[in-house]
Amino acid sequence: MGKQDDLKRAAAEAAYEYVNDGEYLGVGTGSTVNHFIDVLAERKPYIPGCVSSSKASTERLRTAGFDVIDLNSAGELGVYIDGADETNEHLELIKGGGGALTREKIIASASRTFICMVDGSKQVDLLGRFPLPVEVIEMGRSSVARALVKLGGEPELRNGFVSDNGNPILDVYNLEIMNPIELEDTINAIPGVVTVGLFARRPADVLIVAAEGGVQTHK
Ligand code: 5RP
Repeated sequence: MGKQDDLKRAAAEAAYEYVNDGEYLGVGTGSTVNHFIDVLAERKPYIPGCVSSSKASTERLRTAGFDVIDLNSAGELGVYIDGADETNEHLELIKGGGGALTREKIIASASRTFICMVDGSKQVDLLGRFPLPVEVIEMGRSSVARALVKLGGEPELRNGFVSDNGNPILDVYNLEIMNPIELEDTINAIPGVVTVGLFARRPADVLIVAAEGGVQTHK
């Protein structure tokens, strides 16, 4: 296990403390979430059903012996646990490096408490060093890209990738995101955009950061 992997595992173990026995649980996507699913598999809490943000997490959860249910049957979720690509001091996030941003945003908005777990390398002063993922409808791919250029970004089509929803993703480089809520609203309003991977209108409620010095929780 590499150092960063150890930190992801430590963050996942800390996030486990927020799992409520007997309650539906929202589960995100990515390598940190994979550690979290491993922790679930080891500790075996009673979870009547998980709502998953991707086919990959669904498969992993089922293999670990957990039921995965549709969000429509679950109603409002108590807790949603996921990773992120970048976080700032306001617990605003960039997500979507794994391409599951649309389902992640839906689950986050349907959850009372969004727990985000990261290793220390994801913390930044200003969001935007990590290319901002934007899921788009295929026919609007070029027009959305032109609109993103006008906003100062450099969009690149994520090659050979379609989301679980069947859509392409543009990764937008070189954005200095001074006002994340405003940019989230602006990009959401471009026709053809399905979801922008800025989680600022609905940031995390709890951010668990695992770094060399230990695990810290921010609220
Ligand atoms: C997937 C995501 C992930 O949470 C994000 O990419 C972080 O992934 P990892 O835990 O592998 O670093 O948003 O769409």
